Amino acid sequence: MQKEQLEILLKDMSLREKIGQLVQIPGFMIGSGSVITGPALEMGFSEEDFYNAGATLSVFDFDQIKEIQDKFMEHQPHHIPLLFMGDIINGYRSVFPIPLAQGCSFDPELSGRLAAMSAKESAAAGLHVTFSPMVDVVRDARWGRVMESTGEDTYLNECFAKETVKGYQGSNLADAGSVAACVKHYAAYGAPEGGRDYNVVELSDRTLTDDYLPPYQAAVDAGVEMVMTSFNTLNRLPATGSKWLMRDLLRDTWGFSGMLISDWGAINELELHGVTKDGAESAYLAMKAGVDMDMCTPVYALNLQKLVEEGKIAEELIDEACMRVLTLKNKLGLFEDPYHHADQVKAEDVILSREHRELCLEAAEESCVLLKNKRDILPLAKEGLKIAFIGPYTEAHRLYGVWSMLGREEDTVSVKEGVEAIAQNNECTFSKGCRMLDPKYPLYEFHGRVEEEETDDEELLLDAMTKAKRADVCVMLLGEHPAHSGEGGSRGDIRIPKPQRKLLKEIAKVNPNIVTVLFHGRPLDIRGVDRRSKAVLAAWFPGIEGGNAVARLLFGESAPSGKLAMSFPYNVAQVPVHYDHFTTARAFNGDITNRFQSRYLDIPNDPLYPFGHGLTYTTFDYMSIEQSGDVVTCDSPVTVSVRIKNIGNRAGTEVVQLYIRDLKGSVVRPVKKLKGFERVTLEAGEEKTVTFTIDHEMLKFTTADMRFEAEPGEFYAYAGGSSRTERHVTFTFAG
Ligand code: NOJ
Repeated sequence: MQKEQLEILLKDMSLREKIGQLVQIPGFMIGSGSVITGPALEMGFSEEDFYNAGATLSVFDFDQIKEIQDKFMEHQPHHIPLLFMGDIINGYRSVFPIPLAQGCSFDPELSGRLAAMSAKESAAAGLHVTFSPMVDVVRDARWGRVMESTGEDTYLNECFAKETVKGYQGSNLADAGSVAACVKHYAAYGAPEGGRDYNVVELSDRTLTDDYLPPYQAAVDAGVEMVMTSFNTLNRLPATGSKWLMRDLLRDTWGFSGMLISDWGAINELELHGVTKDGAESAYLAMKAGVDMDMCTPVYALNLQKLVEEGKIAEELIDEACMRVLTLKNKLGLFEDPYHHADQVKAEDVILSREHRELCLEAAEESCVLLKNKRDILPLAKEGLKIAFIGPYTEAHRLYGVWSMLGREEDTVSVKEGVEAIAQNNECTFSKGCRMLDPKYPLYEFHGRVEEEETDDEELLLDAMTKAKRADVCVMLLGEHPAHSGEGGSRGDIRIPKPQRKLLKEIAKVNPNIVTVLFHGRPLDIRGVDRRSKAVLAAWFPGIEGGNAVARLLFGESAPSGKLAMSFPYNVAQVPVHYDHFTTARAFNGDITNRFQSRYLDIPNDPLYPFGHGLTYTTFDYMSIEQSGDVVTCDSPVTVSVRIKNIGNRAGTEVVQLYIRDLKGSVVRPVKKLKGFERVTLEAGEEKTVTFTIDHEMLKFTTADMRFEAEPGEFYAYAGGSSRTERHVTFTFAG
């Protein structure tokens, strides 16, 4: 449709119809035959509002999508199609690693390909919009939603945000296989006080601007079609009612012209936050602030018309919001094809295709992080070894995170299956060892309690001990339950559950050769695991190819190459902990006799494994670091060249990281900031030079007088294989 036609359409719509476009109804409120259900009526939706809706959420069944689209279009006075939206976060049926794991790949281009694959499956099955990427910077491992982000670093999140948006949306939204992306949660949802989900966020203007906002802006720059507001308050004002965030910053400063949707019920919750007195005030505040669509409540449907009639809200505001919804529908080509090329036959063809499974495997392998590998216990030999695989994840098929809406156990390869496929010449035994969860702490998922099979704990342990005693090596497959992370999944104790800790302790008594593979949605406190294991592989929730990926990495069919996108704290007392902390006047220098330094008396300051850390099966020597000059100006950058060599005896991949330190500023500066990275694969003995360009844009920050600029002075440029690197050159910025 041409823009003029859209304008004609808008003019012809009644106010009620236009408001209808600003309403999203949850899929579960659409009854069979596409009729309004009791819960929708109870919430206050009238039948007219219901059929006037602009969008729905979480309908994934192909036939149901078609039926709903037909029925709603028939009822809608102008036959305007609905938008079908859903949380396809890490794959449709071809489920790949959770975003935090993807962050560890340091391979945004790969995530772009994953997003494109996810879009292809989702779109073929009838979906138009995915509520992804989530780009909240996350530094507190207690928060369950860290799994949905690509980690603690601003720049890394920016890189992933861009590639993921491009991957989902392709070059033309109207094309088959593209879906609109929705970046979330705007803004700063990733910093809830105490790591407790939905809690308040209090951030200084500088922290917000320099560290938390850039990834959302990167998504906007990449052309993201939608932005979702966040549940949280930000410095006392709910984000969903913040005109500054939405109209001033997002639209006026960043130039976002797409559609803004609230998070689920977030407009309604303005009242619960205590900043409005009723639904009418909430609708007023959110509309004025700039939220175009109300997710899953009737607050807009029930109040906007009256607010316009009373003259409190100008109809132009409604028109503007409605036009954005119509524009997105038009970009998707829905006025010409309301099903957006959805095609069941094609869907069956692409979903879980061989190519898609291969991509899931590639991503799972790249996302695992080898935290430790004492005396090169890994990789395991492919023959002649007696290996006991022990733990509740040995035969588990649920290797995907909670946001895998369409993930299915029958699609997923377990570790046992992965091992059996490649290690036939070893004597492998498998044993569960213990239950996954501590029965004392009931765990609830989105749809009810996690039920674990009743087990005879002693018998399980005995079986595992017997196998462990006879084995040369024990591979422990341990971790959190998927429901421990994700929305509403905050934890105060971030260790693996007690039965598994006990199991590991017992096994370690009879066999010292322990390799632990962890499945998890957050960095964990793994002191106990670390102490008892010669090697630790962080596998996160790797998706449907997880079992194959883990087996291939264990037996050296491929080599780990992941680096932590979020630090593993020493223990929970350290969080929030992140590598780019600030300089303090009393930084701890190791002298424990000096009490007056910034440190804990009982635990270290440093995380157990820092951001950027990750090992592989070979060693890289950073031979030299050279610079093209030592003065950066506004017009002339310098380059820093790092020469690395694979000095081991097998091929491997290293993520070469560039960090910058600003030695003095008008405000305190972080000790290091990631500014570049490159994945480099080298054969044994091979060398390569990796070159980074440092320009003055990279040196900018919010200064004492609140300007975003680079200040002249001295800087270090560090290069290395983790954020702990000390190898650096010095340069100055001359202004
Ligand atoms: C609430 C979550 O915060 C958000 O991330 C999600 O996209 C919506 N619900 C829709 O399911």
